[in-house]
Amino acid sequence: TTAAAMAATSVVVLDRGNNTTCTINLHGATVVSWRVNNQEQLFVSKLASFDGKKAIRGGIPFVFPQFGAWSFGPQHGFARITRWHLERPPDRLHNGDVEAIFSLMDNDFTRSIWNYQFRITYRLILREKELHFHIGVYNPSKELSFTFNMLLHTYLKVPDVRRCQITGLQGCHFIDKTRENALYQEGREVVTVNEWTDRIYQHTPQEHVITNVVSGRKMRLHKYNFPDTVIWNPWIDRSREMSDFGDDEFPNMLCVEAGNVTSPVILLPGTAYEASQILQIIIEGNVSRK
Ligand code: BG6
Repeated sequence: TTAAAMAATSVVVLDRGNNTTCTINLHGATVVSWRVNNQEQLFVSKLASFDGKKAIRGGIPFVFPQFGAWSFGPQHGFARITRWHLERPPDRLHNGDVEAIFSLMDNDFTRSIWNYQFRITYRLILREKELHFHIGVYNPSKELSFTFNMLLHTYLKVPDVRRCQITGLQGCHFIDKTRENALYQEGREVVTVNEWTDRIYQHTPQEHVITNVVSGRKMRLHKYNFPDTVIWNPWIDRSREMSDFGDDEFPNMLCVEAGNVTSPVILLPGTAYEASQILQIIIEGNVSRK
């Protein structure tokens, strides 16, 4: 029964104690919840579909091997709509942190869309106020190279997106998908979102701070080997066009997505690529809330 139960399980929970948990749905290895002291940090639409077919609308879907529209297969690739394997069940480390490892390999479905051998390991570590993501992509082929995009499509939960500020983008060039992919340069020290926003910022620094997330706190996003940052909010009209997103939900989410999007990664036979991200809640010293 254990094996059967394991096979049927679709969610994996990392529990660090103190109501600090992280829940991963094996469908897409999508992080669907990250609670810190019982406070949810991620946005998931109330209309999100969990049918094991569509990508889950919210949390942190894993985008691979394509970002955006794709002539060979589904938008944002197949990793977010494929069932991943639980490589190592949640395990408590000596310092109390909890780790789990997920993996995805090529199979008949992925080969039918994209005919390459690959292997991805996705390691998550839940700390007191942080969530760490470590990704390895390996090309086991002896002859063929492949190229790919990869991105962590993080949906942050926020009380009001209009009050969020995002640091670290000043001076960066960005592709504005709301203006026929025109290229601009960011002049603002902090970026705010007050309308339909869909921008690929290029060569961004390793760190962004997002203000006014849950409980008015700040969230630090630290990234390694993810040169681009996508900022997305569908606003009113685009929300209406999405069947798995409520019309009134856009004020409560902000996507800040670390990725490798504008210049694809080339992976030679027998080589590996690594990237990582850390989300960290910044606790300001001595601020008493009441
Ligand atoms: C963002 C893209 O990353 O994802 C947007 O920049 C896109 O263009 C959005 O609309 C959501 O994509 P999807 O496929 O999940 O509806």
